[in-house]
Amino acid sequence: MHDRPNEFNVRTAPFAEPDRDAVYRAIHTRRDVRDQFLSDPLPDDLVRRLLQAAHAAPSVGFMQPWSFLLIRSAQQREAIWQAFLRANEEAEAMFPAEQRDAYRSLKLEGIRKAPLNICVTCDPDRAGPVVLGRTHDPRMDSFSTVCAIQNLWLAARAEGVGLGWVSIFHEAEVKALLGIPERIQIIGYLCLGYVDELYATPELEVKGWRKRLPLDDLIFEESWGQMPEGTVTPVEAEDQEMPGS
Ligand SMILES: Cc1cc2nc3c(=O)[nH]c(=O)nc-3n(C[C@H](O)[C@H](O)[C@H](O)COP(=O)(O)O)c2cc1C
Repeated sequence: MHDRPNEFNVRTAPFAEPDRDAVYRAIHTRRDVRDQFLSDPLPDDLVRRLLQAAHAAPSVGFMQPWSFLLIRSAQQREAIWQAFLRANEEAEAMFPAEQRDAYRSLKLEGIRKAPLNICVTCDPDRAGPVVLGRTHDPRMDSFSTVCAIQNLWLAARAEGVGLGWVSIFHEAEVKALLGIPERIQIIGYLCLGYVDELYATPELEVKGWRKRLPLDDLIFEESWGQMPEGTVTPVEAEDQEMPGS
């Protein structure tokens, strides 16, 4: 045992196996939810735990640029949904003609079905004009806010709460509806509610939109494009599947 370097440190060790498994279970069984929401309201203490998980996220220069705007009123949610509908029509037209039917058949939001919506925002000025760590890349404050959303998403999974991220709207329209000042950015518009079932694999995969990529195709070593030794490249794999072709 080493002495602790200072009074602020606590001893640490890997989690006990069941705790570690629970963390991975939350990660691997988390889903984006659009339609499975139950209408029961979420208790205040549960919502508080989710927000505390979000607020525990890392942030550049510890700037904590996030705010959480909770939306429960049916009227507000209806207005946001109308904004989604308008944008979703535009979105559909952006895809090649042969993909539009498939796009139209997807459900891409749960704004009215989920009893709680949370608009997560980022205030780029929260820690003054020069922020430790953001000096060379201004995107870091939005990245920090995304970390908060991911914490919230995983905590929600552990609480039996489904969460769906909706990003199909014009930011200016939603800001106007929610009275959000111009300098504040919307990072995520989230729909939350209890769920008693979830897709076992991403809904977009189940519906044939897109598959999960093989992890090995995404790992390089030392320089871009260099696969770890022994990795079979996608091209080699094809050759192996079709010998002599
Ligand atoms: C930044 C971000 C924006 C997203 N926006 C939407 C959206 O507008 N509508 C939607 O249905 N899903 C949205 N999603 C959810 C993704 O479609 C989903 O994460 C992906 O299909 C993988 O499924 P899974 O989250 O269930 O594993 C978004 C996810 C992220 C991370």
